[in-house]
Amino acid sequence: MPDPIALDLNLSTAAQVGSAGLSRQDFEALIPAARAAHRSLCEGRKAGKIAFMDLPFDSRAAEAAQSLGGELSAFENLVVLGIGGSSLGAKALFSALCHPFHNLLPRERRSGARLFFPDNSDPSTFSALLDALDLRTTAFAAITKSGGTAETWAQLMVARERLSRLSAEAARRQIVAVTDPEKGALRKVAAAEGWRTLPVPPPVGGRFSVLTAVGLLPAAAAGIDVGALLAGAGEMARRCDSSELFENPAYLFAAALYLFDTSRMRRTHVFMPYADGLRETADWFVQLWAESLGKQGPAGPVGPTPVRAVGATDQHSLLQLLMEGPEDKVAVFVSLDRPREDLEVPKGWTSEPDAAYLGGHTFHELLSAEQRATAAALAAKGRPSLTLRLPCLDARSMGQLMMLLEVATAFAGPLYGVNPYDQPGVEAGKRYACGLLGRPGYERARAELEGRPPPSRDWVL
Ligand code: PA5
Repeated sequence: MPDPIALDLNLSTAAQVGSAGLSRQDFEALIPAARAAHRSLCEGRKAGKIAFMDLPFDSRAAEAAQSLGGELSAFENLVVLGIGGSSLGAKALFSALCHPFHNLLPRERRSGARLFFPDNSDPSTFSALLDALDLRTTAFAAITKSGGTAETWAQLMVARERLSRLSAEAARRQIVAVTDPEKGALRKVAAAEGWRTLPVPPPVGGRFSVLTAVGLLPAAAAGIDVGALLAGAGEMARRCDSSELFENPAYLFAAALYLFDTSRMRRTHVFMPYADGLRETADWFVQLWAESLGKQGPAGPVGPTPVRAVGATDQHSLLQLLMEGPEDKVAVFVSLDRPREDLEVPKGWTSEPDAAYLGGHTFHELLSAEQRATAAALAAKGRPSLTLRLPCLDARSMGQLMMLLEVATAFAGPLYGVNPYDQPGVEAGKRYACGLLGRPGYERARAELEGRPPPSRDWVL
């Protein structure tokens, strides 16, 4: 069996980066809080309130997602209608595990349906997408855990109307719904419309739902090896069962970032994979870390600011700031031991020093050298980083990585004294939006908005 993913904290230690770094004593001082966080996670699991760590072992749910996903893979296109936790996880899996240009490949060279994630309710994107696709061979997966998200409903209402222009049968057969097993408007409408459905288990929070049908259905439709993904996630869930801070990679990851945030004032956490396929995984992590931890804590607002970067691209953008800007950041690198494909640079231009030394090296060697060099250069300036090393970018490693980051987030919540599973701030914005759009029942929200101080023309140029 190939190696599991590894967390390397060397360049975050005081031995390597001086006073900005963490010592064993810093972690040891956190042990009582870590034990309490572990207890709260275990109690939540036992009470059936926190279920994301058990998903890899739910073979019935996985089979249902694989079976419907398999059917959808026969379509040319699958459009995922969802946003936030109902889109980012599937998008991350698609980018990491399918061919980088999957949607451009002819049918016989790709593993399943082409996948599209419009996410946003930007009219230019969504109408252009519908114009570009042949709707006769396009299926839509409406994914919303609550069943009530405005962006998803707006897209679904348009998609259903377009399909019904083809036929009533198309509007019935080409839409599937993933939502709460009992509650919510989508559940009701799906039953009335005769859409096939899959459930999102209620004790799995939206941004922790990638291993439910929310992520597995699109993954299976694109031909991703869902079994290997869940096997990897299961291995990591078992590794992360340990109550010992120094044995549990997710706990250690969360503890290091928590300590940097709260005791070293390194509040910006830059998540920087050195692999294009992990760009969307970085987006997924940013949402997980920000929406779970950025809240009112017991003594005031808390929460780190996650930022997405991609190496080596952002060495030519953000790196200058990381290297010499304010000392308020810590980098989390993600590296691959082995790429899926490698490419050798041919020897040539031997009289041009800028080019000649590259001849005979592979692209992977170049990217790895850049990651190691960047981490070392930061360390030489007393700037810490952590590295997650994946043996390769396959379904098993992705399962491990996502489970590690989810457990880390669930563990960090109690360290910060916040509930990592809710998002009261997001709800407040949704209330105002419903008020503005005249939704019945939201008159008070509208009145509150109208009662705000009127904007002054002095501040508009
Ligand atoms: O993590 C979360 O709970 C949110 O980001 C939700 O996923 C997002 O708001 C979409 O919600 P829903 O799945 O209910 O449409």
